[in-house]
Amino acid sequence: MSTTKPNILLTGATGFIGGRLLTALDGQGYRVRSLQRSLGKTRFRFILKNEPEVVQGDLLKQETLVPALEGIEVAFYLVHSMSGRKISEAQEFAARDRIAARNFAGAAGKAGLKRIIYLSGLGDLGSSLSRHLESRQEVGEILSSGNVPTTVLRSAIIIGAGGASFEMIRNLVEKMPVILCPPMINTRSQPIAVENAIQYLAGCLRQPATIGETFDVGGPEVLTYKDLIKIYARFRGLKRRFVQVPLASTRLFAKGMDIISPLPAGIVAPLLEGLKNETVCREHRIRQLVPVELIDMEEAVRKAAVEEADVFRPGLFRHRR
Ligand SMILES: NC(=O)c1ccc[n+]([C@@H]2O[C@H](COP(=O)([O-])OP(=O)(O)OC[C@H]3O[C@@H](n4cnc5c(N)ncnc54)[C@H](OP(=O)(O)O)[C@@H]3O)[C@@H](O)[C@H]2O)c1
Repeated sequence: MSTTKPNILLTGATGFIGGRLLTALDGQGYRVRSLQRSLGKTRFRFILKNEPEVVQGDLLKQETLVPALEGIEVAFYLVHSMSGRKISEAQEFAARDRIAARNFAGAAGKAGLKRIIYLSGLGDLGSSLSRHLESRQEVGEILSSGNVPTTVLRSAIIIGAGGASFEMIRNLVEKMPVILCPPMINTRSQPIAVENAIQYLAGCLRQPATIGETFDVGGPEVLTYKDLIKIYARFRGLKRRFVQVPLASTRLFAKGMDIISPLPAGIVAPLLEGLKNETVCREHRIRQLVPVELIDMEEAVRKAAVEEADVFRPGLFRHRR
């Protein structure tokens, strides 16, 4: 790989991670082309120094990928297909993600890309992974089995304003004085602050030893989901009662979240199903290769809540800053 900055294709730039990575790469002087389904959709673009080149494309339509990949050396794969307001729609995401990954791996190989960097999910295969986490791993395998060396970063939930996981925690605590706790709320996880996840993704570009490798990425603490909910409630000064319930109906909880939050059931259901799986880093090699100062979850939640109030809902608890 040349020492000059590579031309980058960013997929998912209209999403939570992609929008932030676009801002970070722009700040570091990279030339970025954004592949997106809708040309008009933007996320955080108001703080960019340089307007990125935007091309219309859909990973499910292979013909749209050829022009998007022309002249590109490195691509970030930050896409998933979970969507829809109906739980039934949540059943089909894995098939769509399989097709999208195959299309992308094939087109990237033909275009002669030097590398792909993909953000996947943590979770051990063979431990009855949820369909979402299994699908994330399958996408990594499809991309890695193509002709382009692929870096896979495996992450647990990423804490930041606008991210689905943080929004679930925020809506639950803000709107529910009594929080029902199914057993999976006590599953261990190693969440990471979105700033750190972005540092790892961008840092891989500067570290050739990451090419073609898979790494676990996580924050400094192993916590349960209940711990995270308590951290948010403490920061907001909200007293919440936790009531243990013996059974968990993902369907019911997803429908409840669909009612109390803007998050659609088609995203919430697969994410909730994944709460049963422990998502803790099994190795920490990335810390040597891409050193970053890890942010603890008290701070990550505080930053996410403040940013959420600033960017998404101006006026909310402004006094707390
Ligand atoms: N958020 C987390 O906590 C977390 C944790 C671990 C790993 N990850 C991984 O991080 C990546 C990004 O997740 P995210 O949280 O940023 O998701 P997100 O906010 O929902 O964004 C998903 C992005 O994918 C795009 N997309 C979906 N289908 C597409 C298609 N067929 N063609 C082109 N673009 C398509 C969406 O575009 P539209 O705007 O057109 O819908 C959107 O930009 C995923 O690989 C995910 O598995 C996230």
